[in-house]
Amino acid sequence: MMQYAWWQTGVIYQIYPRSFMDGNNDGVGDLNGITQRLDYLQWLGVDAIWLSPIYPSPMADFGYDISNYTDIEPLFGNLEDFDRLLEQVHQHGMKCILDFVPCHSSDQHPWFREACSSRDNPKRDWYIWRDPAPDGGVPNNWLSNFGGTAWQYDEQTQQYYLHMFDARQPDLNWRNPEVRNAMFDAMRFWLERGVDGFRVDVIWMMVKDIQFRDNPLRPDWKPGDSNESMQIGVYTEDQPEVHEIIRDMRALVDAYAGDRVLIGEIYLEAEKLVTYYGPQLDEVHMPFNFQFITMEGWSAEMIRACVDPYEAMLPTGAWPNWVLGNHDRPRIATRIGRDQIRIAQMLLLTLRGTPTCYYGDELGMENVVVPVEMINDPPGKKNPLFSRDPERTPMQWDASPNAGFSAAGVQTWLPIAQEYQQQNIEVEQQDPHSYLSLVRALLSLRHDMSALSIGTYTAVLDVPEGCFAFLREHEEQRLLVVLNCSGDELELTLPRLGQGHILLATSLDREGKVELSALQLPANEGYIIEL
Ligand code: NOJ
Repeated sequence: MMQYAWWQTGVIYQIYPRSFMDGNNDGVGDLNGITQRLDYLQWLGVDAIWLSPIYPSPMADFGYDISNYTDIEPLFGNLEDFDRLLEQVHQHGMKCILDFVPCHSSDQHPWFREACSSRDNPKRDWYIWRDPAPDGGVPNNWLSNFGGTAWQYDEQTQQYYLHMFDARQPDLNWRNPEVRNAMFDAMRFWLERGVDGFRVDVIWMMVKDIQFRDNPLRPDWKPGDSNESMQIGVYTEDQPEVHEIIRDMRALVDAYAGDRVLIGEIYLEAEKLVTYYGPQLDEVHMPFNFQFITMEGWSAEMIRACVDPYEAMLPTGAWPNWVLGNHDRPRIATRIGRDQIRIAQMLLLTLRGTPTCYYGDELGMENVVVPVEMINDPPGKKNPLFSRDPERTPMQWDASPNAGFSAAGVQTWLPIAQEYQQQNIEVEQQDPHSYLSLVRALLSLRHDMSALSIGTYTAVLDVPEGCFAFLREHEEQRLLVVLNCSGDELELTLPRLGQGHILLATSLDREGKVELSALQLPANEGYIIEL
């Protein structure tokens, strides 16, 4: 195991700081709250936490609009609280990854305030400015991912600035070396404090076309489809020049001892995604693989169509990874339905490659209905259908008022799920058959069995429709994972595999010997079988 880095053998847990634990009872989660709950994460068995942004921010996009890259947002605490959290994370045998948001800053960042002050201000070129089109309109057809044009007119200097997200998130000009240096300095600041790496926000959109050409429109787009799918980002994403910047970032991170990790947020098809490992594996250690998040539907056949081609197209030596949920997409339990969530979790935690778990998914949390008048999220304010608030609601710790997230009587920033009294950590910890107990058992097995953490992956194709199966092998260990992704009982006929015994079943109540020549697999049930 020694030749593997922690981020290869470990499991990452994403914390959305506003919603994990409110340590000072103001209705919003914070760093001291996270510190209080580290024992739980250790009990659960995850290896690293990734914190969504904790930097000073006017919260136009809840932290993804940063006004100072080297400090802590007062709502979350201060640098002392951060140092204590980091020290405690390490004491608990875990690692800590920060979110880094280099593509855009807040419009309240002093850099942008300066840039706006005049056309010849030295910081002007730190952002992306264009003259109006001859008719006075926007410079080109680029659209914001949050809806509408990506250009905002600045009255005072009479030019437009670019924002690929909210207008309060102006895009930085990564073609300017001063921007690179300032951002790299900010990364060094946190690496020197001891963080174990970064998840880099929209890394594939950091550079835009130098000629500002119009993006082609997607011919099949219809109202109700997402904003970002309205046009094809030929000129606003995945530009060749971005790779050189990522290589510089990687060199910076690698210069620090202790296996610091660089993970890129990238929504691209798998063929393009894998190019972000870099020609010499010198770009991100892992480009987030969102295939299970973006998959429209859920079936064994769809899962196979993600896993097998991805395995085949990974560059030699590149380490895979899988994600089931995050703060931008509906919760997995809501997307695929409760019947299949045990299967989804067994899949995530047995595939080859680093799993990332989204807080609360280990409880089976679902999207929470947030009344329109309570919507916080900027794209949700434009169109409630696109609100990401429902997947960001407070963690459900126990059955007390406010689910143990904030004290009783505190108004939490988003509503708590109605079913929190039955669905919470305390209740599920006591139930050996709960979903949480399954997640913990899977995590523990993944740690104990090298076949799961570092073993090879081989597809098993001679299984009935509705079943997804594969082998994981390392040295003497040989495991078969069979997942019934359907609502019907299936019979598997795999005589070549002989006999085995069930190490873990999704229902948690089946064990013992099985004959692979005739294996009954109940509906929505999965087994990890040792051969
Ligand atoms: C991706 C983040 O995950 C999302 O939450 C955010 O709104 C955009 N980047 C803009 O930073």
